[in-house]
Amino acid sequence: MANRMILNETSYFGAGSISCIVDEIKARAFQKILVVTDPDLIRFQVSTKVTNLLEQAGIAYEVYSKIKANPTIQNIQEGVAAFKAAGADAIVAIGGGSAMDTAKGVAIIVANPEYADVVSLEGAVATKNKCIPIIAVPTTAGTAAEVTINYVVTDVEKNRKFVCVDPHDIPVVAVIDADMMSSMPKGLTAATGMDALTHAIEGYITKGAWEMTDMMHLKAIEIISRSLRGAVAGTPEGREGMALGQYVAGMGFSNVGLGIVHSMAHPLGAVYDTPHGVANAIILPTVMAYNAEATGEKYREIARAMGVKGVDEMTQEEYRQAAIDAVKQLSADVGIPANLKDIVKAEDIPFLAQSAMDDACRPGNPKDPTLEDIIALYESLM
Ligand SMILES: NC(=O)c1ccc[n+]([C@@H]2O[C@H](COP(=O)([O-])OP(=O)(O)OC[C@H]3O[C@@H](n4cnc5c(N)ncnc54)[C@H](O)[C@@H]3O)[C@@H](O)[C@H]2O)c1
Ligand SMILES: [Fe+2]
Repeated sequence: MANRMILNETSYFGAGSISCIVDEIKARAFQKILVVTDPDLIRFQVSTKVTNLLEQAGIAYEVYSKIKANPTIQNIQEGVAAFKAAGADAIVAIGGGSAMDTAKGVAIIVANPEYADVVSLEGAVATKNKCIPIIAVPTTAGTAAEVTINYVVTDVEKNRKFVCVDPHDIPVVAVIDADMMSSMPKGLTAATGMDALTHAIEGYITKGAWEMTDMMHLKAIEIISRSLRGAVAGTPEGREGMALGQYVAGMGFSNVGLGIVHSMAHPLGAVYDTPHGVANAIILPTVMAYNAEATGEKYREIARAMGVKGVDEMTQEEYRQAAIDAVKQLSADVGIPANLKDIVKAEDIPFLAQSAMDDACRPGNPKDPTLEDIIALYESLM
């Protein structure tokens, strides 16, 4: 079997690195940019940091920002229309996963108009053409959508989120600048950071994991575990660490997949608009306990990467528990709720569980769950 790795063509890291965007646009001879961002990022003057640079450099651009968190089919379709109306030839996506995922959907459909309905892009679809070029600038430290081949869309009519997996959607350039993330409030920093930790842990234990992605995921777990508390407190080291750690996790999971933490989190985003990172963080320790028996020695390495001492002297049961406890502690320290009581309505669980079974991340889980298993997992979190 061949292990495939797909990464950005070029990526920039470090505070202040958004200054590279202008040179990239000029070097690639883009004539007109569609800036894809969301309304709050305009209001908080986050996307302005980039549009000011475009203006100073005399680069023509228009803005599309009709995007909600957990973006919808309609958000993408209106973005396609905005791209055409602007006469643009490239996108600068500025935002969290919601803006970047919308940009990916727009860029794929512009290059592959036969998928204009968006729903036909669900799962692994072999589109013919590469998406039109995207320069992606994350403003949260979590999803790593700037380096993944995935995007997630909400189907409002069917009350579900679906994952699209397509190597043609990867942004050509990613600019990971912690200054773009410094305005995140504490709760958003915590939630998106726990999303990144979930990527690293699910990517490390997923069925397709191999040595190269293990290297990325373990390093990501280490960086995120040492940085997230600081990032929530607002320290520059914490912010820089999270910016890097979430990207390193993305380099890994994008190429090997995730698991049922994500499958169970997606329906909560679709049905209750639960922030993606909050949903993941609440579900992660419970699913880690469920998956433990299918993970060999891996939880020892997770515990070690999270800074647990003495893992080599622990029994299997002890190091598995230590890894789960370390995740619970980090989650509690950054203020994530411990259960789904205030989010999920008990009568919805059969629908949520079926939705999780149908999710594109589910086959990657180290243990194959039944519908009953997923129902029991949701119930144990109530
Ligand atoms: N493509 C992928 O591989 C991938 C991976 C994981 C999650 N996702 C998807 O990404 C979405 C979640 O993205 P997210 O967690 O980054 O959040 P988000 O993009 O939904 O943003 C949440 C809110 O935070 C605000 N915000 C973002 N950056 C900010 C900043 N710097 N300062 C102040 N406010 C800011 C936004 O304006 C928005 O109101 C979900 O739809 C999820 O399913 C995609
Ligand atoms: Fe995620």
